[in-house]
Amino acid sequence: MSIWRVKPVSAFEADMKKSELKRVLGKWSLTAIGIGAIIGGGIFVLTGTGAYYHAGPALAISFIIAGIACVFAALCYSEFSSILPVEGSAYAYAYGTIGEIFAWIIGWGLILEYAMGSMTVAVSWSGYFNKLLKMFHIHLPDYLTTDPASYTGEGFSMNLPAFLIVLLVISILVRGTSGAAKANNFIVLLKVSAVIFVIVAGLFFINTANWSPFIPDAVQIIEKETTHEAYGYAGIVSGAAAIFFAYVGFDAVSTQAGEAINPKKDVPFAIIASLLVCTVLYILVSLVLTGMMNYQDFNPLGKYPEAIKAPVAYAFDIAGQAWAGYIITIAATVGLISVLMVMIMGQSRIFLGMSKDGLIPGVFSKIHPISGTPKRNLMILGGFISVVAAFTPISKLADMTSFGTLFAFTMVCIAVWILRIKQPHLERTFKVPALPVIAICGIAINTYLMINLSVDAQLLSLSWLVVGVLVYFSYGKRNSKLGKTPVEGADE
Ligand code: ALA
Repeated sequence: MSIWRVKPVSAFEADMKKSELKRVLGKWSLTAIGIGAIIGGGIFVLTGTGAYYHAGPALAISFIIAGIACVFAALCYSEFSSILPVEGSAYAYAYGTIGEIFAWIIGWGLILEYAMGSMTVAVSWSGYFNKLLKMFHIHLPDYLTTDPASYTGEGFSMNLPAFLIVLLVISILVRGTSGAAKANNFIVLLKVSAVIFVIVAGLFFINTANWSPFIPDAVQIIEKETTHEAYGYAGIVSGAAAIFFAYVGFDAVSTQAGEAINPKKDVPFAIIASLLVCTVLYILVSLVLTGMMNYQDFNPLGKYPEAIKAPVAYAFDIAGQAWAGYIITIAATVGLISVLMVMIMGQSRIFLGMSKDGLIPGVFSKIHPISGTPKRNLMILGGFISVVAAFTPISKLADMTSFGTLFAFTMVCIAVWILRIKQPHLERTFKVPALPVIAICGIAINTYLMINLSVDAQLLSLSWLVVGVLVYFSYGKRNSKLGKTPVEGADE
């Protein structure tokens, strides 16, 4: 059954020796890459939705739950990256354990996380950029900031800022990973400072009465024709799914393993460190926000109808500190550039891994001799991402990014457990403690969050995976290098 063939660890090691990528990333640059991908629009935007439609002041508990789901997955990613420090991330881990068909499905699912995530991030960047321009009284016409499907006017329209920002990011990435990492370090410093600023400045405007009751009784919110089950314990869990997008990204560190100076030690460190830093910041931001503004005030049909769109900036506005909103808008605009950068970089490295294995065309694994980056791969991706971001209403599909990520997390938890059973004596510089308990908890909580996402997102994502299976049978299976020249030690 060739679809179950497994790529042996020795074959990954042989690939690694041949790799033409430049090893330029140290421990702190890798950690900054994780933070660069995690902190983005999610924390500044989704907190209002999380508080009003799901958890109320207990939003902080939703952040803790989503954070725990990520920690379980992060530990499993870390063990894998200490064994297989290769660029394919979850795709490669599955290829080394569960088998080719699963690896393919995960690689295909990761397109939802990275490529689709990049498109939605490009569109939200355009939104922030527009807001920033308006602060300086510059107004771009609607036809230059709206995709054709959402445009209500006549004639041509496109989201030009979304298009251009992707091209800018690609132009940085093709020049070399070292320069991109430096730009990322700078942006990370800026956005972490902005988040700390929100926490510290917000402390002065907290009204503790807003935290009471901390877990409001469960109710149904009826809005137009839809009914939402909100608050109570179920609301806390659905809130965790709703804000999960804010955590998406730390696993991108694992896609950079091929460029890390000391991958076996530094990648696990960076995955866990970046996640822990962001989890603490997120919990504090959600506490401050729900303390500054009553969760009921995020009601889009209430007295502040705009608050839910930019909850953090709005909370400062209402506190009479509009200037803080300016700082947040600048930080989010600049901060999202690094999310985009790491997401596109991650997608290109996953394609690189899949292409080396023959599952997608060889053009994705050509490394440019001077820059040491997969230049053509990045350019194809950039073209695709920029066009979709500019011309389709992609941001409506953001939940699919969370689906793709949760799916990969679940699979990595399964795979780490399988590899421990199959090859217990492999050298592991990082080991998941208390396995299989951590893996089982990771599988349970990540699957649970996945089924708590919107039904539309689940159906669309599953359809995407079905398309992936068809592509595998019509291209990947036939072109698989493992299928053509079986490697010694490969399971069939
Ligand atoms: N976690 C990233 C964000 O919130 C994707 O923008």
